[in-house]
Amino acid sequence: MSHQSTLTVTDNRTGDTAELPIENGTVSAMEFRQFKTSDDDFGLKVYDPGFKNTASTKSAITWIDGEAGILRHRGYPIEQLAKQSTYLESAWLLLHGELPDADELQTWEGRIDELTLLPESVADTISTFRIGGDPMGMFVSAVAALSPCHPEAGEVEDGENRALQIRRILASVPTIAAFCFRRRGDLPLVYPERGSGFVANFLEMLFAGTEREAVAREASVRRAVEMLLILHIDHEQNCSANAMRAIGSSGADPYLSLAGAAAALSGPLHGGANQRVLRMLEAIGSPDAVPDFLEKAKDGKRRVMGFGHRVYKNRDPRAEIIKTMVEEVFDAVGRNELIEVARRLEEEALDDDYFTSRKLYPNVDFYSGILYQAIGFPAAMFPVLFAVARTAGWLAQWQEMVEDDEQKIARPRQIYLGPDKRDYVPVKER
Ligand code: ACO
Repeated sequence: MSHQSTLTVTDNRTGDTAELPIENGTVSAMEFRQFKTSDDDFGLKVYDPGFKNTASTKSAITWIDGEAGILRHRGYPIEQLAKQSTYLESAWLLLHGELPDADELQTWEGRIDELTLLPESVADTISTFRIGGDPMGMFVSAVAALSPCHPEAGEVEDGENRALQIRRILASVPTIAAFCFRRRGDLPLVYPERGSGFVANFLEMLFAGTEREAVAREASVRRAVEMLLILHIDHEQNCSANAMRAIGSSGADPYLSLAGAAAALSGPLHGGANQRVLRMLEAIGSPDAVPDFLEKAKDGKRRVMGFGHRVYKNRDPRAEIIKTMVEEVFDAVGRNELIEVARRLEEEALDDDYFTSRKLYPNVDFYSGILYQAIGFPAAMFPVLFAVARTAGWLAQWQEMVEDDEQKIARPRQIYLGPDKRDYVPVKER
C-alpha cells in the first residue's frame, strides 16, 4: 500500500482524474476547481453549511481534541492555565505565543491598567441606554462606540498601532461591561481604580455600593472569576471567532470587528446558552422533575441547554473544571440550590442512550450560570461576562489573521437555486 500524501479524485462526469495534495490532513478546496465539464464551467465547489468540515485558517493559538476532551492554548493545558495563571498572563500567552517573564508581565499589566478609563462619549452612550435593557446589546454598541474615538485603529497593518488597540480593548471591556451592568440596574457608575488588579477592579466596578459588595471582595470569588475568565478565553474557530476574523478580513478596525464578534456570541446557541441553562433549571424546579423533563427533551423538538457541542464529543474539560469550583464558591457566597437539579440532569442524561449515542455531554455553559448567579450576576449579564473573557481570544485570532499572508477577505461561494433571468414588470401591470 502506498503512503503518499495525496488524494486521487476521479470526476465521473468527464472521467478526469487528478491527484490532490494532502497537507496537515487537509485538501485545499481550490484544488476542486480544476474539475470542469466544459471550458466555461466555473469548476467544482465544495458545499459545507455551518463549516462542519472546512478549515478556514491555519492557526497556532488553540488546540482542541473534541473526541478526547482536550483543550490547550499555545500548547498549555487549560487545566494548568485555569489553576495557575491569571487572565492577563493567559491573554499575553495567546497574543505572543509564549508565557511572559516577570518583567514582561508587570509591564503588560501596568500598560493595560493605564487604559481602563473610557472616553466620555462612550460612557455617555451607555448612559443613554434604557434602564433595565439587555446589557449584551449595550456592550456590543459601547464597544463599537470606541471606534470613532480612535480613528487611528483603522491602520490595521501597523503592528505597533495594532498592539496599542489590543491593549486598549483588553483594558476597556471590563469597564464597559460594568457600566452596562450598572446602567441596567440604574446604579451610579463606579470608575476604574488604577493599581487594584484586573479582576478586583472589575468586581469593584460591578458591585461596589451594592448588597453583593462584600461577596465580590472575597478572595475565593475573585479567584473563581479569574478562572472563569481564563476558561472562556479562546476556543479556536467558533462562531464568534469566525465573525471576528470575517469582519476583520475586510480591513475593519478591531473595535467594530469585536462588536460583531460579541454580537455573534450573544445567540442562544453560543454564548447566550448559559442564560437559557439557568432558565431551564429554574423551570425544571427540583431534582425529582428531571426524568420527566428529559423524556420531553428527547422528542427532537427542544434542546437541553448546556448540552452538546460542535467540537466536543466527550466531556468539555472547561465544564469539568467549573464543576469542581462550585462548592468552594458556595462556601463564600451561599448555596445555589439549582446545582442539585443540574447534577441530577447530568447524571440522568449520561445514563440515557439518546444523549450518549449522540455524544451529548455538558458544555462550559452548563455549570457556569449557576456560579455566576451565586456570585450575584443576573442571567442577562452571563453573555457579557463571556464576552469580556473571550476578548483576548478574539484579539489573538484577529491579530493572527491580519499577520497571515494567506488570508483573504472572507467571501464564501453559494449554490444559486433562484429563478433564471426574467423581465421586470411595473407594479401597475402585476
Ligand atoms: N439537547 C438535545 N438534543 C441535542 C442537543 C441538546 N442540547 N444538541 C444536539 N442534539 C441532538 C440533535 O437534535 C441532533 O439529533 P438528531 O441526530 O436525532 O437529529 C444531534 O444531537 C446532533 O445535533 P446538531 O444540531 O447537528 O449538532 P451541532 O454540532 O450542529 O450543534 C450545538 C452543536 C449548537 C452546541 C447543539 O448541541 C446545541 O444546540 N446545544 C444546546 C445549546 C448550547 O448549549 N450551546 C452552547 C455551546 S458551547 C458555547 O458556545 C460556548
